[in-house]
Amino acid sequence: MKGIILAGGSGTRLNPLTRVTSKQLLPVYNQPMIYFPLSTLLKADIRDILIIVAPEHSGDYVNLLGSGKQFGARFSYEVQDHPEGLAQAFQIADYFIGKESVAMILGDNIFTHDFGPAVRSFKKGAMVFAKQVPDAQRFGVIEFDDKGKVISIEEKPRKPKSNFAQVGFYVFDNRVVEYAKNLKPSWRNEYEIVDIDNIYLKNGELTVEKLSGDWIDAGTIESLHKAACLVREKGLGMVSESQIHLKIESVKKPTAK
Ligand code: TTP
Repeated sequence: MKGIILAGGSGTRLNPLTRVTSKQLLPVYNQPMIYFPLSTLLKADIRDILIIVAPEHSGDYVNLLGSGKQFGARFSYEVQDHPEGLAQAFQIADYFIGKESVAMILGDNIFTHDFGPAVRSFKKGAMVFAKQVPDAQRFGVIEFDDKGKVISIEEKPRKPKSNFAQVGFYVFDNRVVEYAKNLKPSWRNEYEIVDIDNIYLKNGELTVEKLSGDWIDAGTIESLHKAACLVREKGLGMVSESQIHLKIESVKKPTAK
């Protein structure tokens, strides 16, 4: 399975932090934000990864992440000229996805969940993940019936039909490219991922898994702060707490005279 990290966007809610750099390069405690979605993909054994970036920051991403070799992975890069919605990623990633299935993670989403089992068991259709949140109107909202079957998914509804938000990790089979190419922009002029979800839902090919563990969308000042606390507490990402302590210890070691 191929992987995509969507790391473009405008990051307006983090202004002025994002005035001269990209949101996903900002520090979350001890690492650049993009290290967290990257580690989520690597943990799920996804190693062929496309990183989609905004044109003004593309060089910084290549400088930071390089070829992927140091992470035991292979990275490719594509530029999204204008941030026209999450589903645009699948139009941009056309050649990269080729004939395979694809998992996409948002560059500002931090998870403790291990997606490995779901990714390995995926065969066909679409698989998305839901988490109960107090502020569902900020997200794609998933409505379930009594038996846990999905009834609807709506993007940022004013009156959410449930408190289950769709999180920023999605798995689609290869048809997602065609579906994305045929999408029309929504009322807010974006290619919406929920419109893709709804195609699969209509075909009876959408699975929703309820997520265990923590999930933070680090796109606001408050959630960025929470993310830093979570990372500090749990030692997440590519640089673990123990590694840092080891490094500090080795610096502290007295040298023999
Ligand atoms: P958002 O947080 O919804 O958008 P944003 O990053 O532009 O921030 P703001 O709303 O504060 O202006 O995006 C979620 C993730 O998807 C984030 O990692 C950026 C990425 N993204 C793109 O790469 N391209 C896009 O067109 C959009 C809408 C988002």
